Amino acid sequence: MTGETYDLVVIGAGPVGLATAWEAGRRGYRVLVLEQFEMFTELGSSAGTERQWRLQYSEQDLARLTLTALPLWRELEAQANRRLLYQTGSLWFGETEAATNEGEIRQAASVLDRLGVGYEWLTAKEIEARYPFTELPSHFEGFYQAEGGMIDVQATRWVLHGLAAAAGVKIRTGQRVYEVAPDGTGVTVRTASDMMRAEHVVLAAGAFTPQLLEPLGVRMELDMFELTFASFRLRDPDSDLPTWFAFQQPTDSDVNLFYGFGRNPWSGSDLVRAGPSFEDDHVTDPYQARYTAHERHVARAVQWIGRHLPALDPRPRHARSALAALPADPNRQFYFGRLPESVPDGERLVVFSSGWGFKYVPVLGRACADLALTGHTGFDLSRFAFS
Ligand code: BEZ
Repeated sequence: MTGETYDLVVIGAGPVGLATAWEAGRRGYRVLVLEQFEMFTELGSSAGTERQWRLQYSEQDLARLTLTALPLWRELEAQANRRLLYQTGSLWFGETEAATNEGEIRQAASVLDRLGVGYEWLTAKEIEARYPFTELPSHFEGFYQAEGGMIDVQATRWVLHGLAAAAGVKIRTGQRVYEVAPDGTGVTVRTASDMMRAEHVVLAAGAFTPQLLEPLGVRMELDMFELTFASFRLRDPDSDLPTWFAFQQPTDSDVNLFYGFGRNPWSGSDLVRAGPSFEDDHVTDPYQARYTAHERHVARAVQWIGRHLPALDPRPRHARSALAALPADPNRQFYFGRLPESVPDGERLVVFSSGWGFKYVPVLGRACADLALTGHTGFDLSRFAFS
């Protein structure tokens, strides 16, 4: 038992945990990060090489938050002296009023209008003329938004780890936390072999967060699933794609939604990621995730690519899955905030979990650090609070 004391203990060395720790470290606080696995594993929600960057959202506050996040990404890049976010363009097309897990095309376009963000509206024919998609139903429409693109996930994780360490943050791996107990003078954090005290704790353990909250009487309802993704070879070495998402009516057996990326500008490889956006390979215990591709999901992606995207060789080169966790309430994209007032001394704990939050990492890190260390944040995230 070390009984060390910290201003802030962060549980989870995923990107939000590391961004929080870096923020607190560079403000001069004594910070410890506890990670149950090793660094840079593929066992959390930040697996894989890329994430979509897009400004369009059906929810105006989320679209606005991307505009807030962009300069913070640029600041992070400047600190790290390397590019992390690439604006290679974002193309949305399909049924323009279909309500999907990604939002609705028309609604997102009207949010862009309200925010004064430009885009090009395109018919199916125009999309086929400009991009290598074929056999799109003639009523499909959509838009191209030039400032969307993709984020280099692995580089972001390395950069945040390096910046946090350089800011004096201690990072301990292989340390699964079993208890987080706030009281009138601080918080006790227990791992299998250690115990420490902190003024405040940020829980940013993704899919593993509900198990930490349960002993405190807080129920966090997450919908956990394994998202299958695969990579395919671009047939023409000179061709490329923007980041794309196809909105379609559901079939009898699945939501019928597919997405993909262009070349990763940081690798130059001709393998590109594409996959089904199916959230139905459910997981109840995150420790039991298999991280394997769902065969039927791969087959559906192969079928869709074979028909609509001949620029790709439809034989998948790699296929796997990543653990994803979303709030069970579809109206909220993540949980962010202090614990409810019903938890004694719960104001010492700040929680971020989970959702499609990668594009907001620099905002979320700053917001978690703000809330834990000063009790408030200037970012408007109140609708994600525990109620
Ligand atoms: C991603 O950014 O990883 C992603 C985008 C759309 C659907 C699923 C995943």
